[in-house]
Amino acid sequence: MSAPRGQFSSNIGFLMAAAGSAVGLGNIWGFPTKAAQNGGAAFVVVYLLLAFLLAYPALMAELTIGRHARSNMVQALRGISTGPISRLFGNLTGFGGIIVASLILSFYSIVAGWMVAYLAEPFARLLGAGEIANWLTSGSIGRNLLFAAIFSGMTMAIIASGVEKGIERWSTLLMPALIILLLLLIVYVLTQPGAITGLETYLIPDFSHFSWSLVISAMGQAFFSLSLGVGTMLIYGSYLSQQESLPRLGALVTLIDVGIAFTAGLLILPAMYVAQEAGTQIFAASGELIAGPDLILQVLPALFNTMGTAGLFVAIAFFALMTIASVTSSISMLEVPVAFSIENLKLGRKTATLLVGLIIFAISSLIIFNFDSLFVLVISISTEYGQPLLGVALCIFAGWIWRRDEVLKELKKGHENIGSTLFWKIWPWYVRLVCPVLILAAFAQSVGLFSG
Ligand code: PFF
Repeated sequence: MSAPRGQFSSNIGFLMAAAGSAVGLGNIWGFPTKAAQNGGAAFVVVYLLLAFLLAYPALMAELTIGRHARSNMVQALRGISTGPISRLFGNLTGFGGIIVASLILSFYSIVAGWMVAYLAEPFARLLGAGEIANWLTSGSIGRNLLFAAIFSGMTMAIIASGVEKGIERWSTLLMPALIILLLLLIVYVLTQPGAITGLETYLIPDFSHFSWSLVISAMGQAFFSLSLGVGTMLIYGSYLSQQESLPRLGALVTLIDVGIAFTAGLLILPAMYVAQEAGTQIFAASGELIAGPDLILQVLPALFNTMGTAGLFVAIAFFALMTIASVTSSISMLEVPVAFSIENLKLGRKTATLLVGLIIFAISSLIIFNFDSLFVLVISISTEYGQPLLGVALCIFAGWIWRRDEVLKELKKGHENIGSTLFWKIWPWYVRLVCPVLILAAFAQSVGLFSG
C-alpha cells in the first residue's frame, strides 16, 4: 500500500510554503531592477494592478484545481477533463508543467549556487583563506558545478522529508528569517550616504517610460513571481485542508509576494546608489542601471568591500537572504515532478526525489558547460514562453472545461457564502475571458507577433 498523501498541518504552514515559493530571486533581484529600469513607481503601479487583476485570478485557478483533485497536475487535469480532446489537452498541459518546472529549477539552481558561494566567501575571508575566497567568486566551471550541486542537495534533502516535515517545516522557519534579514539590511543601507537618491529613483514615478513593453515586462514578472503555470501552486493547493477559504489564502499569498518585492526595492535601489557614492560604476554602457548578474555579483560585493569589517557581515546577511529566498522557491519546483513520480509512477518519496533531483542536476550541468549558448535560452523558453502559455491553459481548464457547479462546490469548502461574494461574481469571468485574452495578447506582443 502506498503511503498516505501529505498535507500541510495548518493554514499558516500552507501560507509560509506558498509565499516561500512565490518570494524568491524574482522578488529581491528581478523586481527592483525592472522597476528601476522602467520608470520606478510607474512600473510598481502597473505591477500591483497586474498582480491583483491577472496573476491572482490565475493563482486561484491553480489552487482550486489542486485542492479539488488532491493530486499532481497531470492527474488533476485528467480528472477534470470531459472528453478525449480535453484529456489530451490535460496531458499536454500537465506534462508541460512538469518539464517547465524542471527547466526553471535547472537554471535557478545555478544562480542560487552563486548565492551560496558568495555566502561562503566572507567566511573564507574571516578565516584568512584568501585563495579559497577568490575561487568562490571566480565564476569558474568547477565553482558553478560544485555550488549548483550543493544547492540541489539542499533542495532534495528538504523535499525528501515530505510535505509537513520538509516543505512546511523549512518554509515556516525560513520565511520569518528572510523578512528579518531584509528589514535589517534596509535599515543599515538607508543610513549610508547616497541611499536617498536610490529611494528617489525607485519611488518617484516617471510615466514617460510607460509603454506596452513595460506592461509585458510587469506581467512576466508577476507570473514568475507568483510561480504560476507550472503546477507548483496547484500541488501546494492539493496539500491544503478543505476547511480553509481559498480566495482569502490566495489573496494573502499575493499580498505577501507583492509586499516583499516592493520592500526589496527599498534595499536594492538605495544599495546601488550607495555603491555609486563609494565609487562603483552602476550604469552600463547603454546608460541603463546595471541589472543582471553583474548587479548581484559585482556591484553589491564591491559595495560590501568598501564597508570594512561591517561589510563582511552585511555580505553574509545579504547572501543568506538570497539563499533563503532561493531555497523556499526551489523546493516548490522540485515538488512538481516528485509528486508526479510518487503518485503516477508509484515511486517512494526518497527514490523519486533522488531520481528527479539528479536528472535536473544533469540539466544544470549541461547548462554550466554550455553557459553562453544555453543559460539565456533556457530562461527564455521556460519563463517567457512556458509559463504564460501554461498559465492560459490552466485558466482554460478552470474557466471552460471544469464544470461551473463543481468549481463553486470546491470554493464553498471553507467559505460557505462564497456564492454571494464579489469574488464569485467576477472571478469565473476573469479566468474564462480576461486572463486568457490578456495573457495571450501580452505573450504575442512579447514574441513579436504584432510587430513589423
Ligand atoms: N517565484 C519564484 C521567484 O520569484 O523567484 C520563482 C519560481 C518559483 C518560478 C517556482 C516558478 C516556480 F514554479
